[in-house]
Amino acid sequence: MLEEKYYPNKELFKDARIKNMCEYKDLVEWAKEDYEGYWGHWAKEKLNWIEPFEKVLDESNAPFYKWFVGGKINVSAQCIDRHIDSRKNKAAIIFEGDRGDKQIITYLELYRNVNRFANLLKNEFGVKKGDRVVLYMPMIPEAAYAMLACARIGAIHSVVFGGFSAEALRDRILDAQAKVVITADGAYRKGKPYMLKPVVDAALDGGCPSVEKVLVVQRNFEDVVWIGGRDYSYNEMIESQADVCEPEVMDSEDPLFLLYTSGSTGKPKGVQHSQAGYILWAQMTMEWVFDIKENDTYWCTADIGWITGHTYIVYGPLAAGATTVMFEGVPTYPDAGRAWKMVQEYKINQFYTAPTAIRVLHKLGEDEPKKYDLSSLRVLGTVGEPIDPPAWKWYYEVVGNGKCSIVDTWWQTETGGHMISPIPSATPVKPACATFPLPGIMADVLNRDGSSVEPNEQGLLCITKPWPSMIRTIWGDDERFKKSYFSDVVKDGKPVYFSGDGAIKDEEGYITITGRVDDVINVSGHRMGTAEIESAIKKHPHVAEVAVVGKPDEIKGESIFAYIVLKADTDDTLGEEVELTKEINEVIATEIGNIAKADAIVVVPGLPKTRSGKVMRRILRAIAKGEEIKQDTSTLEDPTIVAKIQEAVSCANC
Ligand code: WT7
Repeated sequence: MLEEKYYPNKELFKDARIKNMCEYKDLVEWAKEDYEGYWGHWAKEKLNWIEPFEKVLDESNAPFYKWFVGGKINVSAQCIDRHIDSRKNKAAIIFEGDRGDKQIITYLELYRNVNRFANLLKNEFGVKKGDRVVLYMPMIPEAAYAMLACARIGAIHSVVFGGFSAEALRDRILDAQAKVVITADGAYRKGKPYMLKPVVDAALDGGCPSVEKVLVVQRNFEDVVWIGGRDYSYNEMIESQADVCEPEVMDSEDPLFLLYTSGSTGKPKGVQHSQAGYILWAQMTMEWVFDIKENDTYWCTADIGWITGHTYIVYGPLAAGATTVMFEGVPTYPDAGRAWKMVQEYKINQFYTAPTAIRVLHKLGEDEPKKYDLSSLRVLGTVGEPIDPPAWKWYYEVVGNGKCSIVDTWWQTETGGHMISPIPSATPVKPACATFPLPGIMADVLNRDGSSVEPNEQGLLCITKPWPSMIRTIWGDDERFKKSYFSDVVKDGKPVYFSGDGAIKDEEGYITITGRVDDVINVSGHRMGTAEIESAIKKHPHVAEVAVVGKPDEIKGESIFAYIVLKADTDDTLGEEVELTKEINEVIATEIGNIAKADAIVVVPGLPKTRSGKVMRRILRAIAKGEEIKQDTSTLEDPTIVAKIQEAVSCANC
């Protein structure tokens, strides 16, 4: 593949930490030759240890790897305390609300707010090291305080995205056996208020015996039901808390947080991250991939409910001593210029968002960015899904004015931080390509037997050596951890981490991600398991069978397409079907949340199954796309079903 290459604008990257490809290659070589020496060096240089570690990597119980064994550390101290001497008056968080309200929080203020919050949890609620605390929060500074307060006292936080339903929230509270839930009364989106506390109430009404207390950040929303002895006001309690709380001494490998994510089968998995390895890589990638400088203002548009919000709004920027912008709203409200207006106003230097947002902003206002002064920008990042070349070019040419570096960062909830990404100061970039593994990350494109695939052929994207910020296990389910990530690909007799993504490596080593090869759908950069959506749909009383697949979508990357078979006694006249579609989406909204609603729900007479009863999803994906069926259908239990499904889909489309 001989695509055009884009080289870094050296003027913008003076004093970069990795200046060119020679320096990049030196680091890569160093890691190859002396893996433990390499990581041990960075862990000593970048982190402030309470007690030093004795061993860099313990592989004796693979794949349950241990990093920086014996080391003692506190992540909140990494993010706050160590900056107090040199940065106490620097903005740590710049908050902008949906309605345009603003707040700047300095590192000293952050220190006090987090310490008070930590004292509240510890002294008033009795939260101890190892206890789980669920956060169901909007994008407000208190969400970051809550995460850091948990880290300070050694509690394990589990943030649940505010768009998940009460049922989904309850599942996560139950799985984590959380002692405390932290929420807010409500929030704003596109100028309209929406409530969070009632969702928590509904989740707990369904029975969550582990939850003792609910802490509510009050933003003056009315009509909030208050349950005495369970619900407490953050606003009333916080003022009286002492503003110093000694950071708990944590072992490198103690869990820092859980974050639930979807897999190809079953319920969401509680991805468990550790202390030292996670914060090390969060900080290093922040410095390398975003070229963070002392006076920079950095903005990531994600929500803290996802890993991007954890690593690249809260932990990474703060560990690096940077100024991080936290935005409650959406970049398209009140108009398509909102994001660009904020870039102009705060003189944003690094802007990080999802390809879906870029496609939407492009569509809404091709020339909109030109109305604003975006000259402060140096690095433009993308994350969450493959970016298509037209979106990439618009981002590069119109938003970045042809001078910024674009970093297409590939990583996952499980990887904790970036794995494959350009270094903006060094890497010659090919459009829509994640380029090379970061130094120290052994990513490769393999066959199932661990051999390398031929250049330009698709293979499985794997990480062949453990890395510090990797998932440690699935909360409470070590077997599922092994099976989910270390059972598909074996190299040199050892199982290696398989991401679930397909990728292509060209002859120069550039890696392009092609998307999930398992039953996971990526809608607007949000990861959704088909199994989860299917089990939600099955709750509808008329549904006998269901299969969900992803259909390519111009804006969202993929959309959710559901095939359903009705129970025999159901009236399936067309009028009924429209009603049914609505009902099914309501069931999905109740069970999971609005983000998992299907774009198409088609009633079919049956599903294409093999004689052993396996649903051939590949056929269903092809039909959803309107493609010709290339697969051999003669092995199906009922080969005539394919034409019948095609007909049902074309009827539903007309
Ligand atoms: C999945 C992980 C990582 C933070 C947000 C999503 C897809 C992620 C890219 C990229 C192509 C990407 C993959 C991956 N993905 N980044 N730059 N190019 N695809 O985290 O919810 O854990 O999802 O997102 O399919 O497996 P996540």
